[in-house]
Amino acid sequence: MGLFKHRYMGTDDTIKNGAKLITLADPKSGPAEQFRTIRTNIHFMSVDRSLKTLAFTSSGISEGKSTVTANVAIALAQEGKRVLLIDADLRRSTLHTTFNLSNRHGLTTILASDSNEIDLADVVKESGVENLSVLPAGPVPPNPSELLSSQRMQSLINGVREAYDIVVLDVPPMLQVTDTQVLSTHLDGVVLVVRQGVTQKAAIRRAVEMLKISKANILGYVMNDVYDDDAGYGYGYGYGYDYEEES
Ligand SMILES: Nc1ncnc2c1ncn2[C@@H]1O[C@H](COP(=O)(O)OP(=O)(O)OP(=O)(O)O)[C@@H](O)[C@H]1O
Ligand SMILES: [Mg+2]
Repeated sequence: MGLFKHRYMGTDDTIKNGAKLITLADPKSGPAEQFRTIRTNIHFMSVDRSLKTLAFTSSGISEGKSTVTANVAIALAQEGKRVLLIDADLRRSTLHTTFNLSNRHGLTTILASDSNEIDLADVVKESGVENLSVLPAGPVPPNPSELLSSQRMQSLINGVREAYDIVVLDVPPMLQVTDTQVLSTHLDGVVLVVRQGVTQKAAIRRAVEMLKISKANILGYVMNDVYDDDAGYGYGYGYGYDYEEES
């Protein structure tokens, strides 16, 4: 969609090299601690209502979705939760590269299959991180939107929620394609990743508006790439923030 001009044109770094897993590489660092704070906030959010399926999205590309999603999933697994991480960003998939896994079979294999049964065992892979399983995106299909909004995708989400403590999805950005808007109606919660100095307020507002239209449960936002004197960069988390009040 050409409504918003992004100063930042994005990067394919994570697609080529995988997301940086600071929660594994340096668990004692400031950013790793920030990811644990995000984890704690997710737990607070699930006191009153079950929060088993959760996606991180953003208004545009390269705002940190894949990095935040993978690190939060690891933080959840590190405290003993059985976590499934699904790569539902079919056009810009990264999880197989991040965890060094084959992408020959994945989510698209299940969604495009004719079989009535969904057999996850063939496609869900162990990540190498204890308690964390990964469902890679699979080969890029010609019709990603159709697959993600299919009945089969809904059945898959309903199926995996029983098998894991929490299911975390890396999904496409809101303003490029409608996939996440459709998908969010079937999830327990959605978190918006906002990149400081990059994401435009109008774009955030539009993304929130779209999520509200689809009656998504917007849990809050992760403020990514916040400059920190010690760490150089960081992750912050907030919720209940009213974007309408910003000018
Ligand atoms: N807090 C941060 N500090 C520094 N670099 C970051 C931070 N978060 C993300 N990056 C970098 O920004 C780039 C984009 O991040 P990432 O791939 O996670 O975003 P994305 O929203 O998933 O992008 P895409 O739209 O391609 O899916 C990567 O090079 C990543 O390493
Ligand atoms: Mg990504």
